[in-house]
Amino acid sequence: MTELAAPENIAFLLRWYAGHGIEEAIGETAIDRFAVAPPAAPAAETAPPAPVAGPVAGSAAGAAPAAPPAAQRPPRPAAPPAPAVARAPVPLESPQLVEDARGVAQRCTTVAELEAAVRAFEGCALKRTAKNTVFADGVVGAPVMIVGEAPGNDEDRQGKPFVGVSGQLLDRMFEAIGLSRARDLYITNILFWRPPGNRTPTLSEQATCMAFTRRHIELARPKLVVLAGGTAAKSVLDTTEGIMRLRGKWQTLTLDDGSTVPALPTLHPAYLLRTPASKRQSWSDLLSVDARLRELGVR
Ligand code: URA
Repeated sequence: MTELAAPENIAFLLRWYAGHGIEEAIGETAIDRFAVAPPAAPAAETAPPAPVAGPVAGSAAGAAPAAPPAAQRPPRPAAPPAPAVARAPVPLESPQLVEDARGVAQRCTTVAELEAAVRAFEGCALKRTAKNTVFADGVVGAPVMIVGEAPGNDEDRQGKPFVGVSGQLLDRMFEAIGLSRARDLYITNILFWRPPGNRTPTLSEQATCMAFTRRHIELARPKLVVLAGGTAAKSVLDTTEGIMRLRGKWQTLTLDDGSTVPALPTLHPAYLLRTPASKRQSWSDLLSVDARLRELGVR
């Protein structure tokens, strides 16, 4: 015990946790999971209907201290089907939550109402570990709406999307074609709460928040939408196609009210920070946004 508690061992353990994406305490008091008796089988059925990590949750989610006991986790799905563009139906733990979210979102008639509804929504488990709800930034009604993946640490702290290093790159990229957050851009994410350790959001989490995001696009009425990164592009376009195939190709997004809006998938700025050589493709996408705005008579 004394040996385990030695500072070098604790430092090693913290580094090991960080390497697995476990980088924040989510409670004031540490819980000794080994000392907690696993729940009896029926307890899982009587547990509150909160959504749990879905079958595609990232590894950090599985290792996080708040992960549900194995007995409560849904079984892993069979191997993914052969490549297909349309996504297989999402194996939702709680389809009712998605229906609830849709109902709430549909009743909102302005972006301000939608924001209040998202802030009051308790159906996404990510809200419990996040510090803030990160709804949007920029100008409601701006011609360009950017939809990213999920808040990171900086966004969670400040309550605004894309304010960390990748957000600063995003700002510089759009400034290069003369568009600014203060005047021309409206920015949001497909998730309103930071996934612990920045893991990829599960399909269930995405599906629940997507009800709000689709209504968000309807109510904000941008001239075009830019989908930043593979997760946002796949989720909004409901496709399994990867970002490298999707990027740079305009899509028509049909919303639930029947309206349509052009949408361009592009590389995520965080990816560009890791892979600067891809900035060339990103620049080509930005020029395409510029050209499309001119065609639409916005510039
Ligand atoms: N990455 C995103 O996708 N969104 C943010 O808000 C920040 C980083």
